[in-house]
Amino acid sequence: REKLPLYNTVDDVIDLITRSNNIVVLGGAGISTSCGIPDFRSKDGIYAQLQKEGKYDLADPQDMFDKEYFLQDPSCFFSFAHSIFPSNFVPSPSHRFIKLLEEKDKLLRNYTQNIDTLEEAAGIKRVLHCHGSFAEAQCTTPGCGRRVLGSAIKDDIFAHNVPTCPDCAAREEAKKLQRAKAKKSKGGSLWDDNDDDDDDNAFPGLGVMKPCITFFGEKLSDDFDHCLLEDREKVDLLIVMGTSLKVAPVSELVGHLPHSTPVILINRTPVVHMAMDIQLLGDADIIVDHLCRRLGWTLPPPKPNTD
Ligand code: OAD
Repeated sequence: REKLPLYNTVDDVIDLITRSNNIVVLGGAGISTSCGIPDFRSKDGIYAQLQKEGKYDLADPQDMFDKEYFLQDPSCFFSFAHSIFPSNFVPSPSHRFIKLLEEKDKLLRNYTQNIDTLEEAAGIKRVLHCHGSFAEAQCTTPGCGRRVLGSAIKDDIFAHNVPTCPDCAAREEAKKLQRAKAKKSKGGSLWDDNDDDDDDNAFPGLGVMKPCITFFGEKLSDDFDHCLLEDREKVDLLIVMGTSLKVAPVSELVGHLPHSTPVILINRTPVVHMAMDIQLLGDADIIVDHLCRRLGWTLPPPKPNTD
């Protein structure tokens, strides 16, 4: 969509933030790079690293987050997952800036594509994890879907093991017992030993737990559409921070908000495929620090992530 050049200067940005009371912040990996978490598409990002390392035998580095690929070979993801599992990272000034917007009663919602849960660590409450998070994991076996807390699979992740479902294991055990009993009662004569093997192979990857992060080929939670529908009625400013806006449907948020909503981009690299009103280019932490000084605001101190 075309934009009229209504806003040009940092003064305009300060003015917009000052008079807006329903700000939507759309965040991405670029607000966590200063915490030591690489983004995806920069030259030192996760996809470049995966390509360089070449140890995972992926046709495309994005396959690491592809649902079909995961179901075929979950061990690949679990030999890598430890490197993106949220650890003792401390929120960046950019996270704290979003928290400050919330404290000032200006934050309508923070849509984040990040799975590092640093928004929670910064104390942001009005946050939507568009791509899920490691907070929970779910069994991938059709018809099971058992959910557990992410902490339950943490040890497996750090041991590079494929975590398995406790319910599926219990069901398998019960089935085996039943079969053994039936075999015994029939004197073992009518049962083919191969039956067991056939059953075990009914679902490849039986009982594999997958962290509840959204992979390519998976639908976003309905919350995304619901929140967007609600927020588009109220939003008066959109701030896009640290994202290349390359992944739909989250990137489409920009076009789903009313055309009159001013859009500010805070990012290291420009966005050329979508219209922004103002692009503040550079390190997001430095930019928000400058904005805070101009607004007369003080960023809350960093809180260590004790998780
Ligand atoms: P990208 O890696 O695509 O984009 C990160 C953006 O942040 C880039 O434009 C960088 O220039 C910018 N950036 C990096 N460090 C910065 C800094 N310190 N200050 C300011 N800008 C900085 O990451 P996302 O847009 O978040 O999805 O990626 C979107 C989705 O693609 C992810 O959620 C993930 C990925 O595939 C899934 O895995 C499903």
